[in-house]
Amino acid sequence: MDWDRILLPYKQAADELTAKFNNISLQFNKLEHTSPIFHVEARIKTVPSILTKAQRKKIPMDEIEGLQMPDIAGVRIICRFVDDIGFVVDTIKSREDMKVLEDRDYVTMMKPSGYRGRHLIVVYPVITAFGKKDVLCEIQIRTLAMNMWAVTEHSLRYKYDGMIPEEIHRRLIRTADAAYMLDTDTNIIREDILEAERSNESREEIVFYITKSIQDLYEVADAAEVEELYKKFVAIMDTKDDESLAGFYNEMQAIAQAYKIR
Ligand code: GTP
Ligand code: MG
Repeated sequence: MDWDRILLPYKQAADELTAKFNNISLQFNKLEHTSPIFHVEARIKTVPSILTKAQRKKIPMDEIEGLQMPDIAGVRIICRFVDDIGFVVDTIKSREDMKVLEDRDYVTMMKPSGYRGRHLIVVYPVITAFGKKDVLCEIQIRTLAMNMWAVTEHSLRYKYDGMIPEEIHRRLIRTADAAYMLDTDTNIIREDILEAERSNESREEIVFYITKSIQDLYEVADAAEVEELYKKFVAIMDTKDDESLAGFYNEMQAIAQAYKIR
């Protein structure tokens, strides 16, 4: 088999999808101060792993690129909150550059192992050096807690070659419950968490504006006056009072405008 010829388009798909989801995340972070996508990773199945799975599932060699092995290219999107998962799924389904063939929801329907996650099988066209090829890709969408559990369980399954001892299995089920509770509770206080982060961020922006303005004022205004402003700013920072800080911010904006430095 010419494995490079088969696998390189999958590598291209994984690379392109990673770049696309990372840019979506960047755009959300920059423009909406938060992103449903926390982290993106991708991998290509190795040849031994393809052969093992083909043997295990009795997939003929001329069908390994079909729906029976849709995870030669795998992309994993990690979210912070359970609600983000649905949002990411909707985003993917609305895109014109990939088509969702299957949608498996192990978030609401946990697997007997304790595994949770949402899996989309998409068909994604890549334009390679030798023309266009439609490749299948498995997109796994998990929360941080689901991922933590799955990665741990995967290592153990590997270590014990699938025969996880009863005692460890019981612990795994307990950690799956714990991960589920962590997800449920953080999802409930999601809005509070996001609001706190937004206000932190705007506070940082205000502090940055004020320090920069004071610095620039030294060039154009009376040094003693600027010194007074600086002392006032330090005192306000000491009180940690957001309202005084906002008031001082307005004051600084007026001064900066008067001196035409902003
Ligand atoms: P394979 O499990 O890959 O043979 O495919 P499948 O036809 O069973 O599809 P499924 O949607 O069940 O699983 C696809 C992928 O999800 C797997 O390759 C794993 O990455 C992940 N996965 C599914 N079940 C589990 C599980 O119990 N534990 C862990 N750690 N990962 C799982
Ligand atoms: Mg499976």
